[in-house]
Amino acid sequence: MTPRWCLLSALLLSCAPAASHAEDAAALWDKSCKNCHGPDGRAQTRMGQKESIPDMTRASWQKAESDKEIRGVIANGSSHNPKMKAYKDRLSPEQMDALVGYIRTFKPQEKAP
Ligand code: HEC
Repeated sequence: MTPRWCLLSALLLSCAPAASHAEDAAALWDKSCKNCHGPDGRAQTRMGQKESIPDMTRASWQKAESDKEIRGVIANGSSHNPKMKAYKDRLSPEQMDALVGYIRTFKPQEKAP
């Protein structure tokens, strides 16, 4: 009886944070990134146009950037443009990982044939 209950609660506990991570990433994006990168990553913002921030929904952009590179820019800022600041002191490693995952959701969906 007890062991089974333990297993179930362990599962519930390990699932709950994973589910809230996705929401966290969206909320983080809205709070910290949207002003420049836009709600959808297209960077159709004043800052985006002025600084020619790349459109993250482009397949070519998604292909060219590895998770490691994206994670690096979030953590350390961009070496090309000081407007893209380093977030490593403001965000936890988990939050930065979650944002990489969130940026991947901007990837264009394959169109059904
Ligand atoms: C003050 C405006 C601003 C904010 C806020 C901002 N960025 Fe940026 N970001 C930029 C600019 C400008 C660039 C383009 C830098 C360059 O040309 O390399 C950039 C580039 C990037 C890149 C790399 C794009 C590439 O092609 O190399 C990533 C990834 C990124 N930002 C993620 C984020 C995330 C995640 C957040 C929120 C935590 C964020 N940015 C918040 C301005 C901003």
